[in-house]
Amino acid sequence: MLIPHDKISEIAQANDIIEVISGYIQVKKRGNSYLALCPFHQDKNPSLHISQQKQVYHCFSCKAGGNVFSFIENYEHVTFIDAVKKLAEKAGIALVFDSNSPDTSSEKSRLYEINKSAAIYFRNNINDLKSSEKELVTGYLDSRGLDKKTVNKFGIGYSYKSWDGLLHHFTEEDIFTPEEVEKSGLIIKKEDSKNTYYDRFRGRLMFPIFNEYDKIVGFGGRKLYEDDLGGKYINSPESKVYSKSRILYGLNFAKEKIRYYDYVILVEGYMDVIALYKNEIENAVASSGTALTEEQTRLLSRYTKNVYLLFDSDMAGIKAAKRGIELLLETGFDISIISLPFGEDPDSYIKNNGKKEFDKRIQERMSFINFIAEYYRKENKLESVEEKTIFIKEMIGYIAKIPDRIKRSLFIKEISGEYKLNESLLTDELNKFLRSGKNNSFPKSSLSLPEKKPEGSVKTAFGNNNFESELLELFIHGNDEALAYLENNLHTEYIKDRKILSITEKILDELINHGSLDISAVINELKEDGEKEILSRISNSRYEASYLEKSGSDNLLSQSANPVYTIKNAEDLVKKFRIRELEIKRSEIRSDPGKMLEVFEITKEINELMKN
Ligand code: CTP
Ligand code: MN
Repeated sequence: MLIPHDKISEIAQANDIIEVISGYIQVKKRGNSYLALCPFHQDKNPSLHISQQKQVYHCFSCKAGGNVFSFIENYEHVTFIDAVKKLAEKAGIALVFDSNSPDTSSEKSRLYEINKSAAIYFRNNINDLKSSEKELVTGYLDSRGLDKKTVNKFGIGYSYKSWDGLLHHFTEEDIFTPEEVEKSGLIIKKEDSKNTYYDRFRGRLMFPIFNEYDKIVGFGGRKLYEDDLGGKYINSPESKVYSKSRILYGLNFAKEKIRYYDYVILVEGYMDVIALYKNEIENAVASSGTALTEEQTRLLSRYTKNVYLLFDSDMAGIKAAKRGIELLLETGFDISIISLPFGEDPDSYIKNNGKKEFDKRIQERMSFINFIAEYYRKENKLESVEEKTIFIKEMIGYIAKIPDRIKRSLFIKEISGEYKLNESLLTDELNKFLRSGKNNSFPKSSLSLPEKKPEGSVKTAFGNNNFESELLELFIHGNDEALAYLENNLHTEYIKDRKILSITEKILDELINHGSLDISAVINELKEDGEKEILSRISNSRYEASYLEKSGSDNLLSQSANPVYTIKNAEDLVKKFRIRELEIKRSEIRSDPGKMLEVFEITKEINELMKN
């Protein structure tokens, strides 16, 4: 591997020698210099001198000496290249910029490579800027506290204010055709022309969006110029590798720390994640401005069940927090809310008040009940009996979402204590809620984490009219097109069986991350009782399964012992799921006279779907 010279000096700059050496041995500060016991010979008195200014070390006794890289080489007995790699990774540079030859083996890996190549291009632009553009961009980076280390870590770059900067980059590189690059959304085809393209991102600060495995799936581009008429952020469109609802910004950087601390801080923006990271709070991820989705909660649930919500303290943020609370409760998370003074977001707060104050906010996080109570109080909506009643009912609405009964009753206790209300009265109210189905329990509870479902749920999964088992068959025996269709069109909310949902999630992960489906790899991932069995059973069955008969493809069956389902089968199944979903929704609102129009719309949609 050849690492360009300026890359090496960039890596060196991102790793202060004192910090690096202190990571291995004890370093003491004496006046303006730093001293340590030399690790390269038997040292009794500190004879290793380290100069921060020159970024070198020297041992006056054994004469060892060098820079950060040689220290690592000699201390760890690795090659120069490995030392460079190691420090690059430490500074967050290696993630994006390791220059192994591109993996062009599948459409997905090509898209990842396209994004990576673009990220390198955007990143290099920052170093190559000239005159006024340079002033503007470096000025902006400074004003946002984005130092070199942070820029490297997050792979932040710049897209020139031009129509074809990136386009040129790809033409010069000559690995990917414009048709292919277009699929990443980075360039756009001109409407009036067959093969002219232009850059989507122009004059913007570029944030690569990584999936949890460090692959770049898209970009968020922040506006820098007054005369840019686009939104504050422009994001890559959805693609074969980027599905907004399945990405949490920063998860790749945060996942280890989330597991370690056993909680995650959920924020709204790219800059919030970055600002926290800079302040050594490395377990934050962002929903990136969209409402939190079930898929995102599913991603999180692999790392922790504790979420601290930290949304912008403005009306939009409070609204988003409320929606987030609902979904997280439904999916079995324990939540707390970190609140900020009105008008602040995490980035601005930590910048204006420092890490200490921010840590205090984390300490003073509150339960969702207190958060909502505080909101009512601020709006002066907790004065009259009527207002209090509305508040209590809203709270009970939230509590009803919690799948775990014991937790529900603990929350009821909490409210009854706090507001001096009779506990059994609250429980009655809660039960009313649960019975009325207002908590929407059927669809969402399938994803609940803590409460164990009664045994036998497997059996029901294979009962009549059960699309879930058909789905697994399709995954296992579908052709590439069918799989791609499922990946892009199947919503996990459709799946009402907990085990099959869990299996499907693993299958989707496998598909998303490897571009193909290796069932034995999926089986390795299945941890819960019975899951392995379900999947192995369906994969090994002789395909006399229900699905073929039902969908009338029995000629397929007779032709081959190894039927391949096509995109048509996948479309049919997704359609059936969709119809079932709509029917559930309709039955929930049918008796509500205020929702007649909606019922009518849903019915129309169902009929439409049935027709095609
Ligand atoms: N967002 C977006 N498009 C917009 C505005 C916001 O996609 N027009 C998304 C971005 O992912 C952004 C997040 O929503 O990070 C939160 O929005 P906001 O709070 O406005 O963004 P910040 O990250 O705080 O941005 P900045 O500090 O740069 O103003
Ligand atoms: Mn913000």
